[in-house]
Amino acid sequence: MSDLNAFLERLNTVLSWELAGTIQYLHHSTMVTGPWREPMMKFFQEGSEEAREHAQAVANKIVALGGIPTVEPATIRPAASMEAMLEAALQLEKDALAGWLHAYELAEHSNPGTAFWMEEFIAHEQEHVDHLMKLTKEVSPSMGASKDTESEQVG
Ligand SMILES: [Fe+2]
Repeated sequence: MSDLNAFLERLNTVLSWELAGTIQYLHHSTMVTGPWREPMMKFFQEGSEEAREHAQAVANKIVALGGIPTVEPATIRPAASMEAMLEAALQLEKDALAGWLHAYELAEHSNPGTAFWMEEFIAHEQEHVDHLMKLTKEVSPSMGASKDTESEQVG
């Protein structure tokens, strides 16, 4: 497989996660119930819209590089409670960030201009992961590290 084809394959993986995000966030915006429905509905709607914008941008880039954008979403995680929806969102954003970083590894060699273009998206994905780690309490100020991390805790 040529370098460019390998890069396009990884960009299509990114696209599949953005498509999954578009659908999952849309689904959860309609499903969320309870006293926090109003702000959470808006939160999930905005997540869906941003994922759709990212999907469109990546699909346009894939075509510009001579590839064919996938129409298959990656894993969509259903959830019933607000907590489970936020946990599903965190897992989604971690997967999406990993996909972007995986594609970025090949970008500089395959298409240097695209590497610069990707950095802004990667920074956004990292912000989403950071924010959702706080929302799910996977990280808290007193811990100084993920709850999964046993060592090197601050405080
Ligand atoms: Fe995204």
